[in-house]
Amino acid sequence: MWSVGIVGTGSYVPENILTNVDLEKIVDTNDEWIITRTGIKERHIAPKDMPVSELCYQAGLRALEDAQVAPEEIDLVLVATITPDYAFPATACLVADRLGAKNAAAFDLEAGCTGFIYGVATASQFVATGMYKKVLVIGGETLSKILNWEDRSTCILFGDGAGAAVLQRVEEGFGLLSFELGSDGSGGKLLSQPAGGSKLPASLETIEKNLHTVQMEGKEVYKFAVRIMGEVSVNVLEKAGLTKDDIDLLVPHQANMRIVDAAVKRLGISPDKVVINLDKYGNMSAASIPVALDEAVKAGRLAEGDIVVMVGFGTGLTWGACVLKWTKVGIQG
Ligand code: ACO
Repeated sequence: MWSVGIVGTGSYVPENILTNVDLEKIVDTNDEWIITRTGIKERHIAPKDMPVSELCYQAGLRALEDAQVAPEEIDLVLVATITPDYAFPATACLVADRLGAKNAAAFDLEAGCTGFIYGVATASQFVATGMYKKVLVIGGETLSKILNWEDRSTCILFGDGAGAAVLQRVEEGFGLLSFELGSDGSGGKLLSQPAGGSKLPASLETIEKNLHTVQMEGKEVYKFAVRIMGEVSVNVLEKAGLTKDDIDLLVPHQANMRIVDAAVKRLGISPDKVVINLDKYGNMSAASIPVALDEAVKAGRLAEGDIVVMVGFGTGLTWGACVLKWTKVGIQG
């Protein structure tokens, strides 16, 4: 098995910003409640005519540029999203086409906010076995399109964006050291978009009942998240033969500052090792981790050999984490 690393990153968020004060005009909420309960100050919202494939394309383009990889060299485009352009065809096919990734296989993966971690773990198998040389993994979402803008308990939480990474073989001992993925479908009802699938096809009734929008039992998701984020981080470090003291950078899913704080406390690491951007973007689901990673890389927060842990949870329920020994130097081969 070859070692597999992230040799380029990119991200994109739409220009339009919706602040907490703007939200005060839409639902019965206030800036102070949102900041103290979540840490979110503003989020970016895609215009009506901008689908998630556009965000994914922009992020993918930047990642390819960063990795200095031509679109034709990509063997697989994998898009993690719960807000695809269509039920089918897959958003990954649309993105591969726009990028000019003519030689790539393409498919979507759905694991909610854990999507990027699932994507990296999946894609890395192709590279590790030598089946594929270069894979583009993108986490992209336009949650704004499936929110009930009259439900203050959900519409304040989410934002739109996309983040991408190019995976390639790297020097032995670098790149992905371990990962852990998990799921518990019995918690599926805690966070879902009930209608529009084969269980509850679209009808006048489903529209009237708002069943095409995000439905969430926030408190239950919160309790699960606080428990699982710490647990899975500890497990994945153990798998890599490392401890919390080895962590140089933690890139957690950006859902709620209190959830991140609990995970950081459980791990017992210094807060300055944690990447936080949820104040600017809210919860971008599958895009949260890759956007945060890209911003950390561009800000110079990762050096060759650093240990980075990415950890997330999401609808499914799903959870996952991975440990990388950082290098952006790819090996052809
Ligand atoms: N503004 C003002 N008040 C509000 C708002 C709001 N936006 N939303 C709820 N409230 C009120 C409630 O009505 C309630 O009032 P009451 O006491 O009179 O009944 C009060 O505030 C407290 O509400 P809670 O729901 O108990 O608030 P809580 O502290 O649990 O915070 C939150 C809610 C932020 C949603 C929290 O539970 C949370 O972050 N949960 C996790 C959600 C999450 O991470 N989801 C993403 C999953 S990832 C994926 O795959 C997409």
